Amino acid sequence: MAKFIVEKSQPLSGEVEISGAKNAVLPIMAAALLTADPCEIFEVPALRDVDVMRGLLEYFGSTVESDASGKRLLIRTGAIQTCEAPYELVTKMRASILALGPLLARTGEARIALPGGCAIGERPIDLHLKGFEMMGAKIKQTHGYIEASAPELKGARIYLDLPSVGATENLIMCAALAKGNTILDNAAKEPEIVDLANFLNKMGARVKGAGTDTIRIEGVPSLHGARHTVIPDRIETGTFMVAAAITKGRILIRNVVSDHVKPVIAKLLECGVHIEDGDEGLLVAADDRELLPTDIKTLPYPGFPTDMQPQLMALLTTVNGPSVVTETVFENRFMHVSELNRMGADIRIEGRSASIPGGKRLQGAKVICTDLRAGAAMVLAGMAAEGRTEVSEIYHIERGYTFLAEKFRSLGASITRIDDKD
Ligand code: EPZ
Repeated sequence: MAKFIVEKSQPLSGEVEISGAKNAVLPIMAAALLTADPCEIFEVPALRDVDVMRGLLEYFGSTVESDASGKRLLIRTGAIQTCEAPYELVTKMRASILALGPLLARTGEARIALPGGCAIGERPIDLHLKGFEMMGAKIKQTHGYIEASAPELKGARIYLDLPSVGATENLIMCAALAKGNTILDNAAKEPEIVDLANFLNKMGARVKGAGTDTIRIEGVPSLHGARHTVIPDRIETGTFMVAAAITKGRILIRNVVSDHVKPVIAKLLECGVHIEDGDEGLLVAADDRELLPTDIKTLPYPGFPTDMQPQLMALLTTVNGPSVVTETVFENRFMHVSELNRMGADIRIEGRSASIPGGKRLQGAKVICTDLRAGAAMVLAGMAAEGRTEVSEIYHIERGYTFLAEKFRSLGASITRIDDKD
């Protein structure tokens, strides 16, 4: 298994370019199943998860071509060869469930292995299934698979008990080809939902209100191909913002949509980080500052993103003074606390909150990545810690960050990847 060796880093400085958003490109790739026409997607990030989604589309019968850089994909799904997504593929990536809506809409049937949970939570899909049933699909669960059939999908008014990102995306894609109008109430408002809706509307869909909590979709008989450039990854952006803060460096972050990282900007400003939002990008600097504590509470967008919680926690262990981090989105997203405590963070968990005393000089240690964002947090902590940190199980990180080590090295970080023989 590969790992990262991270030494205490000098203050990071220089410029970094943000890649396309993982959580936008995955639903957009799934949406390409909705048409037989070619769809061209630009600024595709080089991620394991994109490779898995590509494999899934090809399994269904799509052809997926990419240019040498891998940043441009051409997806053609002339005909769906099979409506089944096998366990072996789905368990590689939970977002495979996003194929359910498009398959139902395109063919009237789908058989997808249950994605199951992951380190951060049980990750149920009840809201996805409830929405499909309200549009007329028959859903049953047999032998670990969801079997869905819908000879005719009809528009419906669907209230989401939780503003679930995946359920909102799946239901928008399904409603795009349903008969009549669908209204999603209490929908998720993440920027990735807006990006998906923009792509679908270029395909001829009629999606209105994406980015608000009420989304209206007027079903159309068919969709055509489209070309689309994926939005920048707001979580990668936030991760590099924290990297500048935790190493007391100065980084110009290019290709960002600062609106999408407002909560992270707000919290880092509270910590005393200097941030300039200019034409060139986001300048984040902490090179001359004593940073301060702050409290974080994760919430659905536009609240503070749960995907930035581990990274901020790593920073808060090093600032002078106590902070409290509360995780309200996932029920088990504190796995990185024990890893940070191995480095001397002395964090205490009380229910859904973690108390961080702060003021710690972290010590390098052997730590593991418990999930994608926790892995990024361990690399960040390693950059601030005295001595050497070995971060193992880095496949989590490589699933969701494009060339993270290379980008950090270009800013002066001391991080090398080694393949463990065992
Ligand atoms: C998306 O996951 C993201 N993944 C996650 O990013 C992100 O953390 C999450 O949204 C929240 O922002 C992708 O977009 C591929 P949810 P998703 O449905 O859609 C509960 C990363 O690191 N829920 O909004 O699975 C669920 O258990 C990943 O990039 C139900 O109860 O998230 C959770 O507690 C991690 N029933 C909450 O809602 C359902 O049917 C939010 O989940 C669906 C969800």
